[in-house]
Amino acid sequence: MKKIIIGLITFGALTFNLQAYDQSERIQDMQTMEASMAQIQKGILYNNKKMVLQGVANLKQASSKVEIAPKTDMDYSTNFAKNQASNIRKFADRVKENIKAGHKHGAAMNYTKVLDQCISCHNKIRKWN
Ligand code: HEC
Repeated sequence: MKKIIIGLITFGALTFNLQAYDQSERIQDMQTMEASMAQIQKGILYNNKKMVLQGVANLKQASSKVEIAPKTDMDYSTNFAKNQASNIRKFADRVKENIKAGHKHGAAMNYTKVLDQCISCHNKIRKWN
């Protein structure tokens, strides 16, 4: 009986962990996005399409996971985060299209638009001290 109860508690804790997107996961995804952005820039500068495409894929994957839990700002932050994430993926796709067509300036322009999304959220939600 004791084992079953402990098992249930462990199971409950595990499923809770699987569902909740916590701060450490967010930090992890942020670091992945930062590394992806660096990869994209490096690929553009080294004329390495494959590196750019890999960076775009990594960036899109991480950005689709980012969540901001509704706290004091309630739904505002959550919706804002969803919009930011979808903008990030939209501009990341444009980086991809441009680099495939060999347009480095176009790729760089859309890279900057992605960066603007990061900064907007950091100004609004992240609130660096
Ligand atoms: C929807 C809001 C939002 C967007 C969009 C966003 N960030 Fe963040 N970012 C945060 C928050 C919130 C934190 C603070 C993490 C925490 O403490 O929970 C953070 C922290 C970070 C950090 C610091 C991580 C650390 O180790 O402390 C980096 C780097 C970062 N973001 C990169 C990016 C990049 C690159 C992008 C764009 C591709 C981006 N962020 C887009 C909200 C956002």
